[in-house]
Formats: sequence, structure tokens, C-alpha cells
Amino acid sequence: MARDTAVTLECRDLTKTFTSTDPPTQVIKGVDLSIRTGEFVVVMGASGSGKSTLLYNVSGMDRATSGEVRLGGQDLTALSDEEMSRVRLTRMGFVFQQAYFLNNLSVRDNILLPALKAVPRRERESAVARVDALMERFGIAHVGRHGITQVSGGQLQRASICRALAGEPTILFADEPTGALNSGMTTEVMDALTDVHREGTTVVMVTHDPACAARADRVVYLRDGALVDSRELGAWSHEEATPREDDLLAWLRTLGF
Ligand SMILES: Nc1ncnc2c1ncn2[C@@H]1O[C@H](COP(=O)(O)OP(=O)(O)OP(=O)(O)O)[C@@H](O)[C@H]1O
Ligand SMILES: [Mg+2]
Repeated sequence: MARDTAVTLECRDLTKTFTSTDPPTQVIKGVDLSIRTGEFVVVMGASGSGKSTLLYNVSGMDRATSGEVRLGGQDLTALSDEEMSRVRLTRMGFVFQQAYFLNNLSVRDNILLPALKAVPRRERESAVARVDALMERFGIAHVGRHGITQVSGGQLQRASICRALAGEPTILFADEPTGALNSGMTTEVMDALTDVHREGTTVVMVTHDPACAARADRVVYLRDGALVDSRELGAWSHEEATPREDDLLAWLRTLGF
């Protein structure tokens, strides 16, 4: 029992078949995955192996075809769309390759918008304070009034992280959060995500980049919709970054990456 309580997200025999294609395409083929509270898990695999689909189905952005997804013991597959939206808004955070910000709002207002939606009116002031503190912490407070085309890619992605954290999620999902960034900005964003993880947030991230993946506690490998292997890496440190990445690369090569 004690072990179960440490699992925050659990999926059992998850499948996803897209029926919009002819014939239907089964993209996720019976995935079992347990993610422990506070764990940082990376999903890797070739392009088209189903990483984004897995992330969307695990986070309730899309509906799995069969199987179970539990967050904190609650079966998400049993929820109505409305209940699921509420769970996403209040317990999950999302960071994508593109930030999906509204062009007509400032950086700060983009971050505030979902944060304000997630809380009752009486908690609005504290939500605003939380957003301002997050922006300070991730070094973007000074560009809060800028339009979203007036900041760098790294700043924008750190703004996405602030937006994702503003609702104090128990779990943060990230799909190639550094996919559109140069290497300096990638490091900026990965440092931010590493901090988020160290402060106790569970993180599930998809990436193609072994240097980013090496930050995780555990890497799982998806091939053709099935989880075929996983690697425990343990806690990340700057000093061990290079040997960790080498070790991870050697493992990835055995998988044909
Ligand atoms: N809505 C959809 N309808 C039909 N097929 C889809 C749909 N979405 C994804 N697929 C197919 O599912 C497979 C997996 O796609 P997915 O986007 O999950 O891959 P991925 O591992 O994230 O790839 P990448 O690394 O390129 O982002 C692909 O073959 C894709 O064409
Ligand atoms: Mg993808």
C-alpha cells in the first residue's frame, strides 16, 4: 500500500486508436506506466512513435480508446469532459514546443489568464501574487508588459513554464519544450524545469534531445506505440551532466535511436 501512495500518475493497458483514418490507426498499444510523486520522467522514441499521443491521452487532452489513467488514485477516464477540464486547469500544467500565447495580450496577462480561471474570485489576489513571484523567479518579470513578439524564445518558454505553474499543478507535462530553441535557450529552459522538479513538482516530458533527457530521474522509450525499455538515472547534477548524457546515449543506441 505504501508504495501505491507514492504513485501519482498511473496508466494501465492504455490504447489509442485514431478512427478518423481508413483503416483506423492504433498509435498507443497497451502502455503501462507508473509515475511517482515528485519524479521527473522523460519519454523518448523516434518521430511518429506516439510520444505526443501518449502525453495527450495521459493528461486527458485526448480520450484514450481503452485502459485506465489514474491521477492521485482518481480514474480520469471516467470523468466527463467538463470534470476533465477542471482537473487539467487545477491539477495539471502544460508546456509545449510552441507557447500558444495570445498575440493581443502582454506576456504577464497571458500567464495570468488561466491562473485566474483556475481559482475562485476570493483567491484572485493571491493568484496574481503567485504569478508575479513566478515571473520574478524565472527571470521574466522585466518583460511582463511586453507583447509576446517582443521577447526571446527562451523568455517565452519560461513564460510558458510560469503559466503552467501558476495553478500550482501536482504534475507538469511538457512536449518538446525546447524543440524550437537554440542551445543557450535550451539550457535556460531546462534549468528552469530542473528547478521545478527539485521543488517537488512531478514532471513528464517528451524530448528528442539526449542532453535534455539526461536531466530526468528516469527515461522511458516508446517504439511503435509500446514502451519497450526504461532507464533509471537518479538525481541530476551539473557535475555529472556529461557522463550521464554519454551513458544515456549508449543506452539509446542499443534501442536504435
Ligand atoms: N489525430 C490523428 N489522427 C490520425 N493519426 C494520428 C493523429 N495524431 C497522430 N497520428 C499518428 O500517430 C502516430 C504518432 O504520432 P505522434 O504525434 O504521437 O508521434 P510523436 O512520437 O510525438 O512524433 P514526433 O517526435 O514527430 O513529435 C503518427 O503516425 C501520426 O501520424
Ligand atoms: Mg510529438
